[in-house]
Amino acid sequence: MAIKWLTRIALGLIALSVVGYLAFYFGSQLVMDKKWPVRPDPVRAAEGPNAVTQGARLARLYGCQDCHGTELRGRLYVDEPGIASLWAPNLTLKAQTYSDADLARGIRAGIDPKGRALITMPSVAYSRLSDAEIGEILAYIRSLRPGGEVRPLSNVGWIGRLGLITDDYRTAPVEVANARDHPLPDFGPRFAAGRGLARACVECHGADLSGDRGVGTPNLNVVKDYTEAQFEKLLLTGRSNTGHELDLMSATARRRFNGLSSADMAALYGYLRQRAKTAE
Ligand code: HEC
Ligand code: HEC
Repeated sequence: MAIKWLTRIALGLIALSVVGYLAFYFGSQLVMDKKWPVRPDPVRAAEGPNAVTQGARLARLYGCQDCHGTELRGRLYVDEPGIASLWAPNLTLKAQTYSDADLARGIRAGIDPKGRALITMPSVAYSRLSDAEIGEILAYIRSLRPGGEVRPLSNVGWIGRLGLITDDYRTAPVEVANARDHPLPDFGPRFAAGRGLARACVECHGADLSGDRGVGTPNLNVVKDYTEAQFEKLLLTGRSNTGHELDLMSATARRRFNGLSSADMAALYGYLRQRAKTAE
């Protein structure tokens, strides 16, 4: 008798876990398969003598190469068993079949030409780039010689899928939508240039720069502990105000930010100081 009950309980548990797994698998699949509107985007690749150089500068500042590779030919940039294997696509090959609008929509809205939500592409950091900036980035992408391989789609493991269901991980268009109500605070024309540059910090420090626990970033109010010279040094060398090497931040500063002019760094510092002051 006891054996019979135990068997039933065991079978029941197995059935439950199968149902649970299926619900979980299809639930997360539903999040990833949701169709998004494919709106036209009037942006066109910029022309003119400086467009490509300017676009390359912006691509570096915004970290396109960090994920898509130095020549934007795509690469596996995260490979965490169980969580996800993330492939950034080969943009030089995409550019051969994509229109300017398709590329722009991918960058700013996080939606592919078929209406699929991109995953882990940080469109949230690019959604407010101006048409002029996007035009220059497109000019740069189109200037690169097409080459390399077509990369596979990213594969999201069960931990990643759990994150999608519990809303700990979001697809790119969901992040863009969530950030709509959290723009970078606007302190008028005097701080406009710095505010524009601060978009390069959104990817990791969050839509309103108040920090992101998932990435381990502080609220950028921390600049109140930095003199302007210390801030410049952080962006140029990666050393903190106490002279320390940080983790991701130092590597990012040396890869992306050490090309900023001193005028740009002063503008960025001015904006972040103003933001910190207003928050007090
Ligand atoms: C944190 C990593 C990361 C950064 C930084 C990043 N991308 Fe991406 N990008 C991705 C991934 C991953 C995908 C593919 C997502 C998918 O297919 O679900 C992608 C997709 C795209 C697409 C859409 C391609 C398609 O299949 O429709 C474009 C266009 C693009 N990225 C351009 C850029 C540009 C330009 C920049 C810099 C301004 C940039 N990306 C920065 C990771 C990144
Ligand atoms: C690719 C991710 C990434 C980007 C982009 C990024 N940061 Fe960071 N930042 C971090 C991380 C992570 C930390 C926490 C320290 C660490 O782990 O390196 C950090 C810490 C900091 C700190 C605190 C340093 C300290 O003394 O503890 C400052 C200031 C800072 N970032 C400024 C910026 C500014 C300004 C930008 C934009 C121009 C920016 N960050 C863009 C990831 C990033």
